[in-house]
Amino acid sequence: MFEESTEVVFNKGVARNTFFMGIRSGPMADASRPGQFVMVQVRSGIDPLLRRPFSICGVNGDVLLILYRVVGHGTAILSEKKPGDFIRVLGPLGKGFEPPGKAVQPILVAGGMGIAPLIFLSLNLARKDQQFLAGYGISPEIVPLDPLGIRGLSPTIATEDGSQGHHGRVTELLESVLSSAKEKPVGIFTCGPLPMLKAVSRIALGQNIPCQVSLESNMACGVGACQGCAVKKAPGLIEPYAHVCQDGPVFDAKTLDWEVL
Ligand SMILES: Cc1cc2nc3c(=O)[nH]c(=O)nc-3n(C[C@H](O)[C@H](O)[C@H](O)COP(=O)(O)OP(=O)(O)OC[C@H]3O[C@@H](n4cnc5c(N)ncnc54)[C@H](O)[C@@H]3O)c2cc1C
Ligand code: FES
Repeated sequence: MFEESTEVVFNKGVARNTFFMGIRSGPMADASRPGQFVMVQVRSGIDPLLRRPFSICGVNGDVLLILYRVVGHGTAILSEKKPGDFIRVLGPLGKGFEPPGKAVQPILVAGGMGIAPLIFLSLNLARKDQQFLAGYGISPEIVPLDPLGIRGLSPTIATEDGSQGHHGRVTELLESVLSSAKEKPVGIFTCGPLPMLKAVSRIALGQNIPCQVSLESNMACGVGACQGCAVKKAPGLIEPYAHVCQDGPVFDAKTLDWEVL
């Protein structure tokens, strides 16, 4: 883990309220694994007081990439950063995805900004047999990957309003992929809003499919010191709680208590 003042290399709008940022940090980029995250201090001083967590979307040489949606005060400040500005970043943090063995076909299921860590995972897996599904509310939210310099990934899209790709939820795409995936066992890797994660986990656990979920939670410290990110583990496990920042953000779906999440 490193704590550095990093230079903003670029920070550009790529979809509705969505920005793609590159920050220069060789040590952090080298150490980053898919599913890990960074805590970003969006500006110096005490407003906002807390760093904001963002998944690592990829690395390009010594540049670490993040993809973020402007949802409030901190992300609005971040969206105003220009190349040459400096921001303090802590990372890489947390436990990332366990890559599947060759005998398992990876199915990646993203909802909205949940695509960020799955882009990194997909590039890292570089598997011809992987399926990448991405759900959005409406088409202006769709993050086009080619203009980001991310070549070779073309997720199958679902939009809830039907303006692009499958009309409906990404979980419907998942069910259709699962019903036709007969050649080898599959493993699911997912990140997105909680209701979507619940639905994906229900499908996976119901069919005994291994499923790794990347969870979001409010985070104050990002390093296990504040207890702010505790989540309840599945009944019967020795430790009743896990910390999203240290034990996750990626969890085996069957280790979480989905009833109380
Ligand atoms: C491990 C992890 C990885 C994440 N990766 C991404 C990513 O790749 N791209 C992306 O766009 N977003 C990501 N998020 C969510 C992102 O951290 C929040 O959107 C951001 O912190 C909001 O800050 P804000 O000041 O703009 O919003 P605020 O004004 O503080 O609040 C607006 C909304 O954001 C939520 N929020 C605020 N602070 C946090 C926080 N510290 N953690 C989680 N949610 C918060 C609030 O509940 C509220 O709904 C991730 C969160 C976690 C925990
Ligand atoms: S964010 Fe502080 S313990 Fe996890």
